[in-house]
Amino acid sequence: MKSIKVFAPATVANVTCGFDILGFAVHEPGDEVLLKLRDSPGVNIKEIKGDGGLLPKEVEKNTVSVAIQEFINHLNIKQGVDIYLHKKMPLGSGLGSSAASAVAGVYGLNILLDSPLEVSDLLTFAMQGEAMACGEAHADNVAPALLGGFVLIRSYNPLDVIKIDAPKDLYATIIHPHIEIATKDARSILKKSLLLKDAVQQWGNVAGLITGLIKEDYSLIGRSMEDVIIEPVRSMLIPGFDQVKAAALQAGALGCGISGSGPSIFSLSRSANQVAEVMSKCFQSINISSDRFISKVNQQGPLIIS
Ligand code: HSE
Repeated sequence: MKSIKVFAPATVANVTCGFDILGFAVHEPGDEVLLKLRDSPGVNIKEIKGDGGLLPKEVEKNTVSVAIQEFINHLNIKQGVDIYLHKKMPLGSGLGSSAASAVAGVYGLNILLDSPLEVSDLLTFAMQGEAMACGEAHADNVAPALLGGFVLIRSYNPLDVIKIDAPKDLYATIIHPHIEIATKDARSILKKSLLLKDAVQQWGNVAGLITGLIKEDYSLIGRSMEDVIIEPVRSMLIPGFDQVKAAALQAGALGCGISGSGPSIFSLSRSANQVAEVMSKCFQSINISSDRFISKVNQQGPLIIS
């Protein structure tokens, strides 16, 4: 029986100013998916580990099986697949958990089928998993999880995704406080219209951040990591957000913001340890326990484990 086990990484979406259009991959945490091909048709989720029993095993309700089913439908084949999902990252954390599972699934299946599609063509199937999980097919987690690196989604229709090289000395520090925020909820509280002056400031920052990454201009990266549209609304869901951000900046971070839809908070810096320490301490001081992850930008994306 043909089988493959794939790891796909966590991702930081939005990267402050780039709501739904910017994201990057990190080395850890991430999810593992084992796929086994079957002769009889149909997609089955055989086992889910590490989710505390929270994720649905119904094929149409889990991001990995939805993405795989979309891929199989596109190829118009009768291939049967058994899925064993090992969640190795927290759910509802703002680290792209649903995206990592979907990406590991479609990436692995493509290899098992002798790569009928280019890796970048798998994006659209992984996005269907996001559409099912959060109501909208945003790509700022799935694209970096699949392609690695920093990714810009220039357009959704038509889909136009651009990978941007990250500076070598850039570290991401992610602090995951032990509270849960569902992406669907964090999207539902956003305002549906915005002021032109805020839009001007935001797109100036997006352009500045991309330019800073390409030119390896750390000061410009830091100046551009400002979100005047989403963060003021969502930060209210994260106790201690303002203190954690202030402490990270004080400790030398270039910039700091909400990872995806939260509650994780990330910062970018040229050396990470000091920043991680102060960010964790802030949560400790308000009696919220947290995990921390420190990683350079993961340029590779998914990894074949076996
Ligand atoms: N761009 C998405 C959002 C990412 O902020 O809702 C979700 O992780």
